[in-house]
This record gives sequence, structure tokens and C-alpha cells, in this order.
Amino acid sequence: MSINYIKNFFLDKDVGSVTPTSQVCIKRVCERINFRTAKTLVEFGPGGGCFTRYMLSKMNPDARLIAIEKNGAFVETLKKDPALEDPRFSLVEDSVTNAGEILKEHGAGEVDAIVSGVPFAMFDDELRKRIIREANNILKKDGKFIIYQFYPPITWKGKKLDDYLAEQMHLADKSVEFPNIPPLRIFEAVRKDLGSNPAEAAA
Ligand SMILES: C[S@@+](CC[C@H](N)C(=O)[O-])C[C@H]1O[C@@H](n2cnc3c(N)ncnc32)[C@H](O)[C@@H]1O
Repeated sequence: MSINYIKNFFLDKDVGSVTPTSQVCIKRVCERINFRTAKTLVEFGPGGGCFTRYMLSKMNPDARLIAIEKNGAFVETLKKDPALEDPRFSLVEDSVTNAGEILKEHGAGEVDAIVSGVPFAMFDDELRKRIIREANNILKKDGKFIIYQFYPPITWKGKKLDDYLAEQMHLADKSVEFPNIPPLRIFEAVRKDLGSNPAEAAA
């Protein structure tokens, strides 16, 4: 764990974690991605790049990874990381709420999977819904939104992250992984076609 990571945590509430995710949990999250077939992967909130490096090590030579990070200090760290000097990798300093626009600008097609560590616990109701909507919109049919969050679960007026996901996507699976401080909850949601249901699409 680096001093920079801890500093970023204290300076920016949306960092949401004082330590990077453990290697065991990175593997548990990433085993939900089919690296043999994936062409376009997106990372929401790469922080210091622990998932980024792992995903690049598993990806095919013709696949690409676009990471969106809004914390400028993390972006500077990632830019200096020699392991990320990889033609398959693009880093964008922006909010994940702009993911659709960012992918268009990068000429990326539909996305096979998104790995997301952005801390939903720190967001308000509207932002939680907006991020899930953006994720659903950029995924291809059967594409996966894979989220890791801290355990224990937080509820907002009795509503869990599960409920937010189920409103706009198909919640396919979830698990709790203990080899992390604190333990992690992993959610796997699959794209839902909301085209014919404007009420759901606006949720
Ligand atoms: C819990 S940290 C995860 C960092 C790293 N992926 C890891 O596993 O250790 C969450 C990250 O999401 C970033 N983040 C929070 N809100 C964001 C947003 N709206 N758009 C992009 N990144 C965001 C934070 O700056 C931070 O780097």
C-alpha cells in the first residue's frame, strides 16, 4: 500500500478506500470476465491500477481496455506506471457518468465487461442510478457490469445496491470475498435492453 493511496483517500471522499484491492480479490472479480473472447473492456475507478495491470496481463493482443478515473492524483500515478505503457490501454481523466461519450470519442464499440470499484456508498441516489444507467447503455447484449464494494452492505432508505442494479439490469450473481481488508462484495449484473420500457430507462 503506498503513501499516495492513503493521501488520496484523505483528500477525496470518492476514493472510498484506504487500501488497494487484494490480489486474491482481483482474481475473484476478474474470473467473471471471458478474456478469451473479450474485445473491449472498461474499468470504472482504476485508482492505483491494481486491476488494470492484472486485466492487461490476461487480455488478448487485439483487445483493448479503457479506464476512467476522475481523481487527478491517481491519473498522474497511472500515467507514470511503465506496466501501463501498452497500446491496448487508454486512460481517461473524467467521471464514469460520461462513459458513453468517452467510448464514442475513442471509437470503441460495445463493451464486453466493465469492472467497477467506484464507491456507491459515497454517492447520492441520482448518481447511483446514473452510473448504472451509463454502464447498461455501453454494454453489448449479455455484457457484464462487475462491481466490487465493501462489506457489510449499506442501505439507503432500506434500498440496497442489489435493488438499484435490479431496477435497470439483470442481477445475475453476487458473492462475498473475505481475503481483503475489509471483505468485498462482488456483484455481477448483465445488460438489460430498456429500449421498449421508457419508465425503466429513466429510473
Ligand atoms: C475504492 S477505489 C478503487 C481503486 C482500485 N481500483 C482498487 O481496487 O484498489 C475507487 C476509485 O474510483 C474513483 N472514482 C470515484 N468516483 C468516480 C467517478 N465518478 N468517475 C471515475 N472514477 C471515480 C476514485 O477516485 C477511486 O480511484
